[in-house]
Amino acid sequence: MSTTADRVHSEHETCWLELLKSKWKALMLCVSVLRLGVMGRMKRIMMVLLLVYISIPFIIKLFPSIQAKLVFLNFVRRPYFIDLKRPLDQGLNHTHNFYMEPVMGQKIGVWHTVPAHMWRDSQGKDGDWFKSMFSSTHPVILYLHGNSGTRGGDHRVQLYKVLSSLGYHVVAFDYRGWGDSDGYPSEGAMTDDALFIYDWLKQQMGKSLPLYIWGHSLGTGVGTNLVKRLCDRGSPPDALVLESPFTNIREEAKSHPFSMVYRFLPGFDWFFLDSISANNICFTSDENVNHISCPVLILHAEDDPVVPFHLGKKVQVFGVEYVKTCQSVLNVISQLPPLFVCRNMHGPGSGASGGPWLL
Ligand SMILES: *[C@@H]1O[C@H](CO)[C@@H](O)[C@H](O)[C@H]1NC(C)=O
Repeated sequence: MSTTADRVHSEHETCWLELLKSKWKALMLCVSVLRLGVMGRMKRIMMVLLLVYISIPFIIKLFPSIQAKLVFLNFVRRPYFIDLKRPLDQGLNHTHNFYMEPVMGQKIGVWHTVPAHMWRDSQGKDGDWFKSMFSSTHPVILYLHGNSGTRGGDHRVQLYKVLSSLGYHVVAFDYRGWGDSDGYPSEGAMTDDALFIYDWLKQQMGKSLPLYIWGHSLGTGVGTNLVKRLCDRGSPPDALVLESPFTNIREEAKSHPFSMVYRFLPGFDWFFLDSISANNICFTSDENVNHISCPVLILHAEDDPVVPFHLGKKVQVFGVEYVKTCQSVLNVISQLPPLFVCRNMHGPGSGASGGPWLL
């Protein structure tokens, strides 16, 4: 009896062992198949990435207008859901939105922020009242914004607030092709729009009141283009502030994070930089500064990841004999929190010890 029971028991055990073995085999098979599948998929993804990496330069060379879009980034309308007709939504209760036509039939959107202490007076006032305020005793800053976004971008709005709290009128606008402005972007159009608004402001303002030009990032390129034109015709502005300027668009594009994965390849200039030049995009601040006779102030954060500090310094070196200090603008700068001249809020230069970099 007992032997039968033992046999049954051992048979049962063998059965179990077999089952376990086969399960284990199946499991291992599954794992190896899976691993093969993952490897295969990884390989396929790598191949696709390589193909994309190789084809991008050729696509850009074939369609150089893509490069223009990347320089202007005007289609990036961050923040997306704001009504540019309502600056109040951005916390600007003393700002008037209106439209001008540098070219017949093409309107561009403009914000005029009066000095902050006038905010109470400005409530419920129309365009005529705002316009008449240009002849008050307060200086005006014409603000030229950089690429992407609109005149309602948050970092821009914060700057309008600081400048207006210091007693300045701030006039900011969206170039053709940006925000709610009509038309298409180009370097020439940006400069033309800036000149049109500058001339209009001059007409509205009292003769002795200062008019300053403040460009940021790509807007510094517009700024030096504009001021070169003004100086060439013998009517320089009172001062030019360049916040994060670069020497020219080719050098800037080479340093931009976008170009990181390509910049060391042979043919980079031919594929990428020549495609920018093919769109007539130059922004040669390094040449323009030699024609500029008004005071220039350059601001740059040492850890700027988009426009490297050394390019800003180079602009100063090029124009060195023309750069003078402008006391009133310096006063403005010294009161700015470092945030406004530092892209990296938490990096060096953003703390109390750092502050804005004056070249
Ligand atoms: C309007 O804006 C001014 C300037 O920024 C500010 O001092 C004031 O508190 C604001 N008023 C209201 C009601 O929000």
